Amino acid sequence: MKAKKIITGIALVGAIAFTATGCAGGGGSAGGGGDGVITVGFAQTGSESGWRSANTESMKEAFSEANGFNLIFNAADNKPEAQIAAVRSFINQGVDAIVLAPIVTDGWDDVLKEAKDANIPVILEDRTVSASEDLYASWIGLDFEKEGETAGKWVADNFGSTPTNMVVLEGTTGSSAATDRATGFDSAIKGTDITVLDSQTGNFTRADGKTVMEGFLQKYGSQINLLFAHNDDMGLGALEAIKAAGMKPGTDIKIVTIDAVKDGMTALSNGEFNYIVECNPLLGEKTAEVVKKVVAGESVDKSYIVEDQAFDQEQAKKVLDSRPY
Ligand code: AHR
Repeated sequence: MKAKKIITGIALVGAIAFTATGCAGGGGSAGGGGDGVITVGFAQTGSESGWRSANTESMKEAFSEANGFNLIFNAADNKPEAQIAAVRSFINQGVDAIVLAPIVTDGWDDVLKEAKDANIPVILEDRTVSASEDLYASWIGLDFEKEGETAGKWVADNFGSTPTNMVVLEGTTGSSAATDRATGFDSAIKGTDITVLDSQTGNFTRADGKTVMEGFLQKYGSQINLLFAHNDDMGLGALEAIKAAGMKPGTDIKIVTIDAVKDGMTALSNGEFNYIVECNPLLGEKTAEVVKKVVAGESVDKSYIVEDQAFDQEQAKKVLDSRPY
């Protein structure tokens, strides 16, 4: 694999900088339908969060008819079997390319092999898979481990030298977003005075974040000093539970999350969250560009990584109005 290089000058909403790694040959299809329109099947995870809504919107905008695409969209309600079935149905429909935002990392080998055998290139978006790199043409996404590490470093710097009890709301079990964020965060808080009281999945949703936090509060009450939520939505659900328990979010319980969607950034500006690491959902334009190249048989990099920012309360106040999602 080639050394990482930063690609600049890519015009994208929100001024994203990409890091490209490795190099892959183009995918299998000879180049779109006879009419020049590229039919793309997009297998989205579902609609679990504000981040996901922004990502879906970005993809639909980029894969528009005006841009030369015929988009077949499927959202799998975060059920891996339904997502595999959607990919299989795209293969049966003979699409020119498949874009996949995989719910979970494992279990993709068979259907990706079927796509390859049918000469249909697969481009991954957002999360990664454990299947062999030969089975997909490219991946456009985020460095989840670095996101977790950035969150963990802030926590270690601010609370690491005083005894602090933390609870964690994890994302979807088995997703690369949850696994890699946990890895990065755990390595950053290693050796500090932070104790993990409990860690459970809230499935990246506001409703589950609230329910799981209610359970944490019943069990540990005012022992909890800090919450790390793998996304804004779970943090926002937890915020409701904390208020209902008569505690002040951001003060009695410090809250660190990932995503930086509008509602999360608003909570951060209001002092109810304490720190957010961004996860940029605006991947549509770059993904569409890569799909066009792959379908045309041009060579593309094996991965394109979006650079994320991070915000404390003061920084959030300054950028809140200009956030594009
Ligand atoms: O894979 C990205 C994650 O998925 C986002 O952080 C989360 O909000 C979404 O559901």
